[in-house]
Amino acid sequence: MSFSIIGTGSALPKTVQNNKDLAQFLDTSNEWIVSRTGIESRHICVAESTLEIALKASFNALENAQLKPEEIDLIICPTLGGDTVTPSLACLLQEKLAASCPCFDLNAACSGFVYGLDVADAYFSRNQEMKILVVAVDAMSKFVNWQDRSTAVLFGDGAGAVVLSSGNDLKAILLTAVGNQHALSIPWPKGNHPLTENQVKPLPYLKMDGPEVYRFAVSAICKDLRTVSAQAGLKLTEIDYIIPHQANLRIIEGAAKRLKIPIEKFVLRVNNCGNTSAASIPLVLDELNRNNVFKPGTKIALTAFGGGLTTGACIIEWS
Ligand SMILES: CC(C)(COP(=O)(O)OP(=O)(O)OC[C@H]1O[C@@H](n2cnc3c(N)ncnc32)[C@H](O)[C@@H]1OP(=O)(O)O)[C@@H](O)C(=O)NCCC(=O)NCCS
Repeated sequence: MSFSIIGTGSALPKTVQNNKDLAQFLDTSNEWIVSRTGIESRHICVAESTLEIALKASFNALENAQLKPEEIDLIICPTLGGDTVTPSLACLLQEKLAASCPCFDLNAACSGFVYGLDVADAYFSRNQEMKILVVAVDAMSKFVNWQDRSTAVLFGDGAGAVVLSSGNDLKAILLTAVGNQHALSIPWPKGNHPLTENQVKPLPYLKMDGPEVYRFAVSAICKDLRTVSAQAGLKLTEIDYIIPHQANLRIIEGAAKRLKIPIEKFVLRVNNCGNTSAASIPLVLDELNRNNVFKPGTKIALTAFGGGLTTGACIIEWS
């Protein structure tokens, strides 16, 4: 017995920035960004905090699941970091939801949502009566160096949530990690202890070796999808929808080509959200669920990769 997804929700901040807006202050162009990434626009938290979009996604998911916050037994927040180091985003969310369950953040960067599902699955093996809220949220705009055109154009902000109860939707799941600080990192500012005060404080902005992450991502998607589909006893062609982490259209096209599966099997939403880190997969999941795309028996593969370097993939059969 694993879990079933009984509700989904999502939220995007109001402010939309298209590529032409970025070209006002960065040496870039709409043509470059679209041709290298497939991204046309992204949502940015200007008026909203990370907590506010997480809260909105949570309420949407709870409403969709027809549950009250007090019926939730655990909140897991996959995120790179909320509005404060402590309390965790999950604790702040619990307060705003008026829930009373344990809660914690989980940092596996862009793979966080799949990591969160795996942790939830483990809880269900202990207690099948639970209801678990997994809220993946990232405000990448707060971590990006807006003077660095090679990274700033890639990211956006958003939140996606699922409510889980015990069930049999999860057919296979795989997590991986290969520690690597060079490929993608966000440094922590050094503290202000007197003995460290002469040290240079690194700016807490995202740094990335784009081509290295690109190669890693294409190969990870292929390897992970082959592994989880084999574990679930499925051929890749038997999967109805593949929801990849929405980082870059070319990465997804590269993986589809290498796997020899039609690109149409991959759900692509990178154009209007950019890379929303942990939120990117549940944002798409919610959209398809609300549009009644999933029917009982629909087979869905999720595949994610990100900082760490981490990857996660799973097969879900919608009930
Ligand atoms: C970042 C990425 C789009 C860059 O694409 P690329 O084809 O590898 O491009 P390069 O890094 O080789 O840069 C090519 C040129 O474009 C320039 N360039 C970089 N960003 C630019 C921008 N926004 N606008 C215009 N030119 C840009 C570079 O300076 C470089 O110029 P040069 O050849 O004169 O030195 C690509 O590597 C990528 O998508 N990587 C994965 C990133 C990712 O998904 N990260 C998140 C993982 S969770």
